[in-house]
Amino acid sequence: MTITVEAYAHECAAQGLRGNYAACQADFTVEQRYDYSDEDQEVWRTLCDRQTQLTSKLAHHSYLDGVDALGLLDRIPDFHEVSDRLRKLTGWEIVAVPGLIPNEPFFDHLANRRFPVTNWLRSKKELDYIVEPDMFHDFFGHVPILSQPVFADFMQLYGEKGGAAARMGGEQLAARLYWYTAEFGLMKEEGAPLKAFGAGLMSSYSELQFAVTSVDAHHVPFDLETVMRTNYEIDKFQRAYFVLPSFTALKESFEQADMAQLIERWKDAEPLDPAAV
Ligand SMILES: [Fe+2]
Repeated sequence: MTITVEAYAHECAAQGLRGNYAACQADFTVEQRYDYSDEDQEVWRTLCDRQTQLTSKLAHHSYLDGVDALGLLDRIPDFHEVSDRLRKLTGWEIVAVPGLIPNEPFFDHLANRRFPVTNWLRSKKELDYIVEPDMFHDFFGHVPILSQPVFADFMQLYGEKGGAAARMGGEQLAARLYWYTAEFGLMKEEGAPLKAFGAGLMSSYSELQFAVTSVDAHHVPFDLETVMRTNYEIDKFQRAYFVLPSFTALKESFEQADMAQLIERWKDAEPLDPAAV
């Protein structure tokens, strides 16, 4: 590990991050500690109920199938219980973390089919917006789709190849791929309407509607190299959404990508403006 838990905990405390990083083990995981208050449970149900009204119409069926397979949206999920179900479907499990963790352990967890999920939930006052990703984003957004075999394989590959790319100086290229697929990806299968699957969209009430239904949303056909070259901004609606034809296309194009060559070619280049791709 390039950064120790102690040093990272110190950094996070200085930045005012909410999680208890001091409780981390060497791989940056913590115990979930299922001791949520009644108010937490109410916030969870409110978020899930409200968002499900949208995802039922705008989310790709693979996400919705995952929600059905994993269940548990009526109360804050018990990570062990979810992991038992997920392991049987795709060999993935979820591990609790106090919030964002450093890249190296993040890639390592994905490469080993472990998805890190934040163990705390936003407060009632933050229903619509929260700065740090919390359990609602991590779980409601990312976990259901890990029950789908091809996407699950892509995420493991991302841990392997993304981690290797980061070590070769291609951290930005890898981050953009994650951002425009796992976080803000859209899907348009042949003969089917446009749908969303990225976790940033699944967990956002306003941006999910914008990305899928607005005539102002900029939809771009998926191309791996273009994605890796395209800049992104956090805390704003995306100025480009990449549209996949299938998860198989995503996985195969990443499998075939020569990351060393892409990094060599693009790592020092000016990134593309998302509005112009
Ligand atoms: Fe996320």
